Amino acid sequence: MKRTEPKTTCVVGAQWGDEGKGKIVDLMAKEADVVVRFQGGGNAGHTVVVNGEKFVLHLIPSGILHKSRCIIANGVVVDLIQMLEEIDHLRGRGVAVGKNLILSDRAHVVMPYHKFLDKLAESGSGKIGTTQRGIGPCYADKAARKGVRVADLYNPGFFRARVRAMTEEKNAIMKALYGGGPLDADRIVEEYSGYAERIRPFVADTVPIVNEAVDRGKRVLFEGAQGSMLDIDFGTYPYVTSSNSDACGIPAGTGVPPSKIRRVVGVAKAYCTRVGEGPFPTELLNATGDRLREVGGEYGATTGRPRRCGWFDGVASRYAAMINGTTEMAITKLDVLSGLDEIRFGVGYRLDGKTLDLLPTDTNLLAKVEPVYRTFKGWSEDLSKVIRFADLPGRARIYLQFLERFLKVKVTMISVGADREKIILRT
Ligand code: GDP
Ligand code: IMO
Ligand code: MG
Repeated sequence: MKRTEPKTTCVVGAQWGDEGKGKIVDLMAKEADVVVRFQGGGNAGHTVVVNGEKFVLHLIPSGILHKSRCIIANGVVVDLIQMLEEIDHLRGRGVAVGKNLILSDRAHVVMPYHKFLDKLAESGSGKIGTTQRGIGPCYADKAARKGVRVADLYNPGFFRARVRAMTEEKNAIMKALYGGGPLDADRIVEEYSGYAERIRPFVADTVPIVNEAVDRGKRVLFEGAQGSMLDIDFGTYPYVTSSNSDACGIPAGTGVPPSKIRRVVGVAKAYCTRVGEGPFPTELLNATGDRLREVGGEYGATTGRPRRCGWFDGVASRYAAMINGTTEMAITKLDVLSGLDEIRFGVGYRLDGKTLDLLPTDTNLLAKVEPVYRTFKGWSEDLSKVIRFADLPGRARIYLQFLERFLKVKVTMISVGADREKIILRT
């Protein structure tokens, strides 16, 4: 096979998730042959708005609204019930889902006991504020070599034995630790064998499919879920998700080697949000934070929880740019900042009289830092109809130009509204 230079792009969150990745992926999917989810699972909520019509995708790549082939790769943890519901929902709204969707036979299945364990663990002290979709327990079993992979669903003897063993183990844990359970293994086997038949047409080994597409010069778009600050290695541990939610997750999550990843688009809001527990140095627990939440519609796309809101954290997003090898930035929700007298941008942290320009690894210390801000004058113009960078108010341009100098990455896309069309492209 003739190999050509890879045309790969990945879109990853440069904050704590919900940066607007869905919108940017949808925008770029117009010109992509293949769109690949490589990590996370139903914890993701990616919103795409087309002519005022809203679609929220959890497991299916945001490219499904275009002609792209959509792949749920091996690094994703799949809740079969949720996947089937999402397919039915999309079909019900006239979106074609058939041969254009492929699910990796190596992906791990989120089992009922994973969801129970997630909920039970979150009911006690030390909670993370998870989405309770069973993500952590499923990845934990994957690492412990106790997981159920999609391929296992089609080996009835192995599947039954594994589910029986795992259910027995989890029932004991749930009873001992939380007084919960018990689950019936044979009922799970029966139920999941039914789902297995329904998803069978979508299942394949996606590793050669994605690699061949890359090697043939097809335009392949990798869609990140969550954000770099929720990454299990580089985020604000333990207040993170259970996967590598940045570009580092692509090779392991798809089988595409790192040497073939070219363009890396980091997505960030023009301010910052976070859902769940954990430190958030630039959080605004005041009327400005409330205003950002209301104007920005900052309520979770998966759980409906109000998002915590604050100023842009330059330290966190510069770190994200480093670990992702970000080649360009997309800044979303600039329109939400209109009408503020002043806008702040976090340029550092103060801790015990010292200034830090990196996130401390110890999350307990991060919880104690005071942000250092650079303050900008705000603007009052409505940005929602702007389509050229030059037509943005001067103060908005100054803010963005500072942001790109601070992150040392060029801002090539600026989103000024939820709809697909509301975008400023800069070359
Ligand atoms: P994702 O998880 O990164 O895909 O982001 P979410 O979909 O969870 O959250 C982003 C929210 O902001 C969604 O409701 C989007 O429709 C909305 N959104 C995206 N870009 C813009 C924008 O530029 N302006 C406004 N006002 N809303 C936006
Ligand atoms: P998208 O893809 C924002 C957060 C949860 C919690 C932590 C762990 O829409 O950006 P988990 O259920 O993954 O074990 O929860 O991670 N979280 C997200 N926050 N956006 C997301 O996804 C998230 N997925 C998980 O709130 O703090
Ligand atoms: Mg989201």
